[in-house]
Amino acid sequence: MALKEAGGSLPVPNVQQLASSSNDVPIRYIRPELELERVSSDDEYVQVPVIDLHSACRDWGFFQVINHGIAEEVILKMKADIEEFFNQPMQVKMESAQLPNGFEGYGQVFVVSKEQKLDWGDMLFIITQPIHGRSMELWPRIPSSFRETLEQYSIELEKLARCLLSFMARNLGLESEKLLTLFNEGLQSMRMNYYPPCEQANKVIGLAPHSDGSGLTLLTQVNEVQGLQIRKDGKWVPIHPIPGAFIVNIGDVLEIMSNGEYKSIEHRAVVNPEKERLSIATFHSPNFSATIGPLSNLLTKDKKGQAPNYKSISHEDYLKLGAKIKLDGKGKGL
Ligand code: SIN
Ligand code: FE2
Repeated sequence: MALKEAGGSLPVPNVQQLASSSNDVPIRYIRPELELERVSSDDEYVQVPVIDLHSACRDWGFFQVINHGIAEEVILKMKADIEEFFNQPMQVKMESAQLPNGFEGYGQVFVVSKEQKLDWGDMLFIITQPIHGRSMELWPRIPSSFRETLEQYSIELEKLARCLLSFMARNLGLESEKLLTLFNEGLQSMRMNYYPPCEQANKVIGLAPHSDGSGLTLLTQVNEVQGLQIRKDGKWVPIHPIPGAFIVNIGDVLEIMSNGEYKSIEHRAVVNPEKERLSIATFHSPNFSATIGPLSNLLTKDKKGQAPNYKSISHEDYLKLGAKIKLDGKGKGL
């Protein structure tokens, strides 16, 4: 600063030239011992944290994100309101009951046959976006703040999902704006799960193994009871949720769109023998005009030319089939 005021920087030697002309270091460059504190040998290999989003999506399909920017209050309100809803008497919950053959509302995960084994859990499934896709009659009225809380939570989670999707797109060599366009007016739905305690917890399953049919799922663990497990290298691995974290997972749609580079991993929920467990899964999928298939047309120049590993179909057909359409026809659930 002082130098500037005095009329600019004083001329000093060019260091590149100096280094190439002599091995002697002029005295002006030699620092007092005090300024030359060394890295201690203990700290030689300390690393700053590495946040490798690409490897998390490609090698695990699941990761936890903290400090995600969503106000704690929004999450706490959602947790409190869903707990209160599940604690209501049956007749109140039944005001939001699934309609015959419907999947939205309060009830259980799809039951298609009398023989089908059942999950030890109830759920409230609600379509939250796009707004014109909502069935307001199924949104709980009790607790009275529920609808407003859900609306807020839905908006905030959509923002976070879009943010993660834009990073993922770039990592995949996709044009991120074009990927995000597919999610404009996209489908967002929530499955709020209630698993009561079960004395024979090791004989039942809260939510049977499945992969998510959506694009990207953000999961909130509502209380401190753990239960989510993922299939990794043929074994079940428990997820230990960090308070305040979202557990993020790649769904079938992103696996397909990434032509298999990102994996939609099988997961399940187990039940606790003593304590109830609650979770909220928020699914994000493209809009209804989007085609579900590998996004070879969105690949940046250097990535073009990959052969597709999945069929491309309309979003409507995809939802009807409810399954991953591999080219060999062996999609999950088919
Ligand atoms: C889910 O698979 O969406 C829910 C799993 C859980 O309850 O943790
Ligand atoms: Fe799931």
